Amino acid sequence: MLKFEQITYQSPLYDKVVQLRERILRAPLGLTFSESDLSVDKNEMLFALTDNGEPVACLQIKPLTETHVKLRQMAVDTNRQRQNLGSKLVREVENILKSQKIKSIELHARESAVGFYQKLGYHVVSERFIEVGIPHFKMLKVIESL
Ligand SMILES: CC(C)(COP(=O)(O)OP(=O)(O)OC[C@H]1O[C@@H](n2cnc3c(N)ncnc32)[C@H](O)[C@@H]1OP(=O)(O)O)[C@@H](O)C(=O)NCCC(=O)NCCS
Repeated sequence: MLKFEQITYQSPLYDKVVQLRERILRAPLGLTFSESDLSVDKNEMLFALTDNGEPVACLQIKPLTETHVKLRQMAVDTNRQRQNLGSKLVREVENILKSQKIKSIELHARESAVGFYQKLGYHVVSERFIEVGIPHFKMLKVIESL
């Protein structure tokens, strides 16, 4: 059964989320996470959709100011992509952020994922730039506060 969960840093579920991130976001680029890449996770809010206890989609939120955050590390398991899990997860997280008076969300989208974020109401606000060796665009969405 599909469940939306906030993930506790360094819990057993956190370890599985790191594996999902490695598999989807890093391994295809020939990269892995270092200890220092992961140590920043303790300052962020981590979320996942799980299916029978296994994470199938994940993302995390880095606070930037009192009212502005960055969405990072968005990944959906390969065999679960294009089944509306990514968009469901983003919407669930946006609702939590709205209840916390967050007004805007930024992210660095891979060029290949820009269309996904556009469908969720994010807008490109930068020139194309390279991050982790591949083209990205900065995107922004203003969300209503409650
Ligand atoms: C990009 C990603 C997060 C999208 O999640 P997903 O669960 O596959 O997407 P969804 O099924 O929720 O798609 C929602 C809508 O966006 C569209 N969409 C999904 N991926 C897209 C893409 N890469 N480009 C354009 N549109 C896309 C879907 O067709 C769907 O449109 P619809 O509502 O008209 O049917 C996921 O495919 C993924 O993890 N990809 C590999 C890693 C990655 O690129 N992460 C993002 C890093 S910035």
